Amino acid sequence: MAADIVLRGGAVVDATGGRRADVLVHDGVVTAVDGDLEAPASALVLDAGGCVVAPGLVDLHAHLRQPGREEAETVESGSRAAALGGYTALVAMPNTDPPIDSAAVVREVLELGAGACCDVRVAGAITKGRRGEELAPMGEMAALGVRIFTDDGNGVQDARLMRRAFEYSSALGVLLAQHCEDDELAEGGHMHEGEWSSRLGIPGIPVEAEAMMVARDVALAELTGAPVHFLHLSTAMAIAMVRAAKAADLPVTAEATPHHFTLTDEAVASYDPLFKVNPPLRPRADIDAVKAALADGTIDAIATDHAPHPQEAKELPFDQAPPGMLGLETALALAIDELDLPLERVLALLSWQPAHIAGLAGQHGGPIAEGAAANLCVIDADARWVVEPERLASRSRNTPYAGRKLTGKVRHTVLRGEPVVVDGEAQR
Ligand code: DOR
Repeated sequence: MAADIVLRGGAVVDATGGRRADVLVHDGVVTAVDGDLEAPASALVLDAGGCVVAPGLVDLHAHLRQPGREEAETVESGSRAAALGGYTALVAMPNTDPPIDSAAVVREVLELGAGACCDVRVAGAITKGRRGEELAPMGEMAALGVRIFTDDGNGVQDARLMRRAFEYSSALGVLLAQHCEDDELAEGGHMHEGEWSSRLGIPGIPVEAEAMMVARDVALAELTGAPVHFLHLSTAMAIAMVRAAKAADLPVTAEATPHHFTLTDEAVASYDPLFKVNPPLRPRADIDAVKAALADGTIDAIATDHAPHPQEAKELPFDQAPPGMLGLETALALAIDELDLPLERVLALLSWQPAHIAGLAGQHGGPIAEGAAANLCVIDADARWVVEPERLASRSRNTPYAGRKLTGKVRHTVLRGEPVVVDGEAQR
């Protein structure tokens, strides 16, 4: 049985609001939330003075690279990065090698996650090999608890196949998540198509590549009645479509990444592949649209798209380097710094709303009350720090934020009643 923990002196913030309270955790469960708690003498007291005690964050979109690309990340290292970033749960993407497209690989990743610093959930592929040709055995994966299916890294191009996937997902009660990119329109592109791609002579990806797939899948969600979640939306055009779909009461949810509300395509002028990502960084007007959509509820969640790549890969010429950037350890601070939203709204986007989408409500995302699972993080929202790539817990170093001064840091993370981060240090 785990030692009791008291989170002492903080302000509890969850979907029900904020209040000054200590939190007592016993055997993996919150047993008291009160102004001034009497703690058992044996309890581990974690100082939450000046901090917010929140439900742990939930990442709908993390690439942990295992199996197959352990030089970039492992379930263990990625989960440690997640816990340091305040996450108590994440959904691992299936573009591994082999891909997570069968019960056997789902089982393997779940086993790797069993002792990790974070609750590791798995997204299964929609199609075998993520090739977009035939459906993967979604039922077998769903039987192991898989709740989200996606070919992320690629969108499912074939509308007829996607329609069948929607029909299966309805029957199985699972959620399809789409990487929205029309391959033919995006073909050959390495950055956003616009003024900067012209100036730099780098082939571009037009915003329509994203918007066309969103339009198609909104139509398929309406046709089949099955819900769809749109991954890493980056364009004003696609966001307008999601806004209209929600206004029409269609079962649509969406996420955006921190890099799509903090960096513009102008960063690519350095030709530094650290700024290469898919979907690509966009111009200011799209960044503003992402921020507005996070503020007005059109976008439901902030997801990291944490995409580790080894240094050699990110030192290749821009057109040969793989897309992707780290995200787990910087997402919270970037959201606090860059979104003009109260902390409670930021936490809704990072914790309880993604917990609902992932089917994890009840275990993650709060509310913090007697009887709730003790998946918590303690945030010093005023702590200032500088991003130093070599100090990140990820196996990779490909953050585009090196040297950036951020405000907001995780002090402690508690997973199922166990302290996995204490005073900013991982305990496993
Ligand atoms: O930039 C990206 N990197 N976008 C994706 O969709 C995949 C990801 C990766 O796996 O590296």
